[in-house]
Amino acid sequence: MEYTKLGYTDLKVSRLCLGGMSFGSSKWMADPETSGKIIKKAIDYGINFIDTANIYSSGESEKIIGEAITGYRPQLVLSTKGGGKVNDFTQGFSRAILFNEMKNSLKNLRTDYIDIYFLHTIFDNVDFRDTVHTLSSFISSGKAGYIGLSNFMGYQLAEFSTIMEMQENIKPAILQNHYNAVYREDERDAIPFCEKHGIAYSPFSPIAAGFLSGKYKRGLENETVRTKTYPVMKERYFSDSDFDILESVEDIAKKKGVKVPQLALAYVLNKGFIPVIGATKPEYLEDDIAALDVKLDREEMEAIDRNYKPHKIVKGTAGY
Ligand SMILES: NC(=O)c1ccc[n+]([C@@H]2O[C@H](COP(=O)([O-])OP(=O)(O)OC[C@H]3O[C@@H](n4cnc5c(N)ncnc54)[C@H](OP(=O)(O)O)[C@@H]3O)[C@@H](O)[C@H]2O)c1
Repeated sequence: MEYTKLGYTDLKVSRLCLGGMSFGSSKWMADPETSGKIIKKAIDYGINFIDTANIYSSGESEKIIGEAITGYRPQLVLSTKGGGKVNDFTQGFSRAILFNEMKNSLKNLRTDYIDIYFLHTIFDNVDFRDTVHTLSSFISSGKAGYIGLSNFMGYQLAEFSTIMEMQENIKPAILQNHYNAVYREDERDAIPFCEKHGIAYSPFSPIAAGFLSGKYKRGLENETVRTKTYPVMKERYFSDSDFDILESVEDIAKKKGVKVPQLALAYVLNKGFIPVIGATKPEYLEDDIAALDVKLDREEMEAIDRNYKPHKIVKGTAGY
């Protein structure tokens, strides 16, 4: 396993972060037993960075991870998220809600601190100063090591970070946003901001929720359990230019003698980011780990980049 320093922090994390969104019980996900196997196997492979959220399978993902990491906690960098959708009427940015979510996450994960506590999303009508103060109190009380932000657009990241720094003398350690070969909107603002300020960039859906796995083909109906139960997938991908990019990824994978999802993941790794992988089967981990050895030269990267067309903004999954 390769490791890297996480942005400006002293944390040393594996180049792959294991995502916990698929640990639960719905049809496209891994059931609790399989999830436990995936987590143990990832730890055996040296993955030390595990990410989840309080809303994944309504807390089930946190509980599954909490059980599976018993005995391994000190060697792991654990992140979870709060501030997602609470119900149809309430978003979770108030102090009372965030305090309660932190309490439940610590209990579910069977730990007394979270290495990185993410705000799952943000809205412009939220009082950023109050939310920042609550997050800062998590650091000063020892409940969180660092703060991460997720689903932030460039201007929101800039505004929120400035308030963090000016008001509380803290700064975000990591941004977890949507990025892969067919969705690169963050290259305009958020990524340059992260690079300038030493914030790690950790993209979710590096294989485009499976769109870049090789199972979807141009001209076919492309209905899978995941497209049916994760409707945002069809909104995000499946345009003509997305299929052009998929076909470049397939060509290069064939020439290199590697699997299509490996090549898609290698593309993100070659950009220097720390992808959050979504393994739904234990055997996917072998492919993901092998992607670390797939090096792409400039021409190959350009061949994938060339067909990119800007996408309409499709917001994240944190209650939008
Ligand atoms: N912050 C946020 O709002 C947010 C949003 C989304 C995700 N995330 C995080 O990012 C993680 C990953 O998201 P994701 O599931 O969308 O990631 P992804 O890695 O882009 O997609 C995972 C899907 O790709 C397919 N796949 C993965 N490896 C494969 C392999 N080796 N061979 C064939 N197919 C493979 C699987 O599809 P099948 O199951 O159909 O085979 C799997 O469900 C989540 O677990 C979560 O932690 C965060």
